[in-house]
Amino acid sequence: MFNTGLIKFKDITDKYGHLTPIEGKVDIPFEIKRIYYITKVGEGVTRGFHSHKKLHQVLICVNGSVKIRLKNPKTEDIVELSDPTIGLYIGPYIWREMFDFTEGSVLLVLASELYDENDYTREYDFYLEEAKKRF
Ligand code: TYD
Repeated sequence: MFNTGLIKFKDITDKYGHLTPIEGKVDIPFEIKRIYYITKVGEGVTRGFHSHKKLHQVLICVNGSVKIRLKNPKTEDIVELSDPTIGLYIGPYIWREMFDFTEGSVLLVLASELYDENDYTREYDFYLEEAKKRF
């Protein structure tokens, strides 16, 4: 889907376990200005329901699994993240919903900008109007 994609990170493995390094602008297509993580999401809970105007993000499920529903005005897709060496890139004007978080799952998010509520579009009909101009 335009404006989204999967990124495969390094997996440095030895007898002590696994290590995945992520460097801004090297392993992902932007400078990382913010990180946050989502934990302890209850069964049946869906989060997200928004898109961003400028923000670029990469979502990594570092433990457990989670599903992400991605929408643009023309199509929709569901991606399951369950591998800590895979990142899901989500660019501007993509609607996202995160659901089916397994117990103990941790969703790490790398973001290109500091938090700015004005960059969110949280109203789906308004999202469709704005996104239709771009897709
Ligand atoms: P939100 O982005 O709506 O979460 P989700 O898309 O996972 O459902 O954010 C939830 C709340 O947290 C909202 O009140 C804004 C706040 N928040 C911050 O203060 N800083 C941040 O970096 C993020 C991502 C959210």
